[in-house]
Amino acid sequence: MTKKKLVLAVLFIAIALFCYKRWDVWFGNPPEPGYDIQHHPARVLLTVGPSESSRYVSWQCDSVAQLGWLDLCDTLGHDTLVYETMGQPFRSRAGVAAYFSVLLDSLRTDTDYHYRVRVGQDTSAWMQFHTPAASDDFSFLYFGDVQDEVDDNAFDSLLPNIMAHNADASFLLFGGDLIERPMDKYWKKVFASLSTYASSYPIVSVPGNHEYLKGVTRKLEERFPLVFPYYDLEATDDNALFSFKRGDARFFLLDSNKDFWRLWSQRMWLEKELSACKEKWKIVVLHHPIRSIKGSMNNWVVKQFFDDLVCEKGVDLVLQGHEHGYARFNVDTSSGKGMTEPLRLVSYCSRKDYMLQFHGDVAKWGTDSRYFQRISFSGDTLSLSTFDAGLQLYDRVKIVKTGDSRRLIDEGADIPEKIRVSDWFRANKSAKKVKKFEENIEKWRKSKR
Ligand SMILES: [Fe+2]
Repeated sequence: MTKKKLVLAVLFIAIALFCYKRWDVWFGNPPEPGYDIQHHPARVLLTVGPSESSRYVSWQCDSVAQLGWLDLCDTLGHDTLVYETMGQPFRSRAGVAAYFSVLLDSLRTDTDYHYRVRVGQDTSAWMQFHTPAASDDFSFLYFGDVQDEVDDNAFDSLLPNIMAHNADASFLLFGGDLIERPMDKYWKKVFASLSTYASSYPIVSVPGNHEYLKGVTRKLEERFPLVFPYYDLEATDDNALFSFKRGDARFFLLDSNKDFWRLWSQRMWLEKELSACKEKWKIVVLHHPIRSIKGSMNNWVVKQFFDDLVCEKGVDLVLQGHEHGYARFNVDTSSGKGMTEPLRLVSYCSRKDYMLQFHGDVAKWGTDSRYFQRISFSGDTLSLSTFDAGLQLYDRVKIVKTGDSRRLIDEGADIPEKIRVSDWFRANKSAKKVKKFEENIEKWRKSKR
């Protein structure tokens, strides 16, 4: 055997061993523990519908295809409308459960609605929601990854505090990885965390990689679109895509987890939707940051498909997650024409945080907290305020739009940055990674002096 052949053989064996060692990490799924089905209507979730005056409601009950109903009454009309639906059983890796959903349409603005769901003789308690007034001024909340473990109750206690200060939020938007893994125990955890807010505020989410089953080809687990029925995968080439309007803003939800050959059809969809958009504000939401904060080659494929498009089509704001760090990107205004690209944000609301690669494209970084955003629209101004887990203001930026011109106002630069290695990182990562993260931070601090 020649020396060249020997080197190639050693290289081949090394790659094969590496793949063998990493196979489960790349393609394996931990087994789902068995679970008890819900014998009564439960896990009720209110979410957005295809029009501003519509809402979907989903719930779970039993494990067979049978009729279910939703009774809806409003405080003005005093009539009770009955919506009928057929349950859809879904067999997961460890059990089977039936999911129900109905679309409530032609809802009045600024109205209190009461509703309950029924399956067979079983009826849920009455729940309620309020539809917003007919105004272009509104606020919503954004949360990056949550993906809590079953025994982690931090978000359970944080959310009521957040809602106490943001009761006027139109909806709650999640940037994917809402669950830790596609298992019943994690869905149970999410519904416990969302508590009664799940049935009283529209809950919206894009899918993250943790909602997917890993494999040579990744697959969005069916429970996700069953819980969030605004997704119609058949209509969108098996991609979880959706756009919805609120006030003078339109939101475009993408599925950045797909293999690259599916991202092309997502790009086509987004281009068409953005071109047809009549609303003043355009907000794109996807799980993987188009521009990474963990390494220049991370999410490279996602960047190739979407980075130019969000600039060319006048997107105002891009909301992202996945990389478990806080980063509000700079906006290039050097052309003298105001904003020529969107404001890009990466955020997370999880106890986990990852090693960041600090760079100058980001105006403000954040680590070691659970962050969330209140995003408000008022007249010509979009305001984005970021708060930490102590509900302290961490960052604030505004976009003022006059005609085709957009101006950015940075009100967060003077609020001190929180950049440090968290206790979670120290407890869960190797000493080598902790040291490397500390070095990254030190190097970044030195470069700023
Ligand atoms: Fe993720």
